[in-house]
Amino acid sequence: MKKMMTILLALVMSFALTACMTIEKSEETEKPSQSEEITVEPSKQGDGAKVLVAYFTWAENAVLDEGVDVVSSPSVVVPGNVQQLATWVQDETGGDIFSIRVADPYPSDWDDCLERANAERGNDDRPELLEKVENIDQYTTVFLGYPNWWYGVPMALLSFLEQNDLSHKDVYLFCSHGTGGLANSVEQITAALPEVFISNDIFDCYEDEAASSEDEIRSWVNSLGYSRSEETNDSDGKASKRQISVRSGDNTIIYALNDSRAATSLYAMLPLSVEVEDYSDNEKIFYPQEDLDISDAPLAQGKSGTLAYYEPWGDVVFFYGDYNENPGLFELGQVISGEEFINQMSGTITIESE
Ligand SMILES: Cc1cc2nc3c(=O)[nH]c(=O)nc-3n(C[C@H](O)[C@H](O)[C@H](O)COP(=O)(O)O)c2cc1C
Repeated sequence: MKKMMTILLALVMSFALTACMTIEKSEETEKPSQSEEITVEPSKQGDGAKVLVAYFTWAENAVLDEGVDVVSSPSVVVPGNVQQLATWVQDETGGDIFSIRVADPYPSDWDDCLERANAERGNDDRPELLEKVENIDQYTTVFLGYPNWWYGVPMALLSFLEQNDLSHKDVYLFCSHGTGGLANSVEQITAALPEVFISNDIFDCYEDEAASSEDEIRSWVNSLGYSRSEETNDSDGKASKRQISVRSGDNTIIYALNDSRAATSLYAMLPLSVEVEDYSDNEKIFYPQEDLDISDAPLAQGKSGTLAYYEPWGDVVFFYGDYNENPGLFELGQVISGEEFINQMSGTITIESE
């Protein structure tokens, strides 16, 4: 039955994913911004964001027969893929974790679980949950993890979304699945949360790859601007700004980055070795391989020494003179030392974290 199910799923789903991957914002040359693709903007919470990682996994929603060893028994399949992914997201964000659990657990037998899940789907059920999130208002960001169940989300995920008010929060999705990929899951979640910002940068992972996806999912979390491990502490134990060094020939320029997601994405790309170009009479620029997420980046203020990102062209800019403010120009940081060398940058430069 399981084999048949897998074949059926593979045939029915038009897009089969082969390995762990994040869904890129767009593969087109001119990339639409997030705000063009979705109607609800992210709230600009910056580094004050308090994170909740909520997830559903069969592993924590299954009845195990007495005496059954789920690890060695081939007849029982309780993988816990989403649970594993959620622990990495939680560790990387430093957020709180919440396992969505139904009051009436699912069978641990694969066929029986499929059958019940399918019946719930057919009836548009909302399975009763064991508990609600305590004080949901304290969270500004929710990472929501789930497996694909029957071409969409487990119905318990919809129970969760209806019982816990996620309005005014930023929501990031991560999913583990079989050959069916994300299927209709994103549409279902979007329909359940019409007023909520749901990022279209989604982490998804084929079931057999989940256990080896730690690096990928941590990078994804970093690219969204959340990173506990990248924060450094000064001697007072206070969080200090991340710094980068830019080397051109014998010259070194140091910048302090701000806490925006765009700056964090750039930081996650380091070390970089890139060709710097001249632009106008006050800019040195280069094009990073990936677009930066400008959703919470402050606009650049026109001051010489700014490290900026020009979103319409996707280039990073080192300013060595004052400049005009522009709605597409976002600040990533400010120079700390070596400002006098910025206008001498040429050829290949190396950028590293300090
Ligand atoms: C009831 C049920 C239905 C499933 N339906 C699908 C499906 O339609 N498409 C798919 O790609 N995978 C499907 N799967 C596979 C899971 O999405 C996949 O194994 C996932 O990694 C499980 O995560 P978990 O271990 O955290 O529960 C289903 C699994 C179960 C238990």
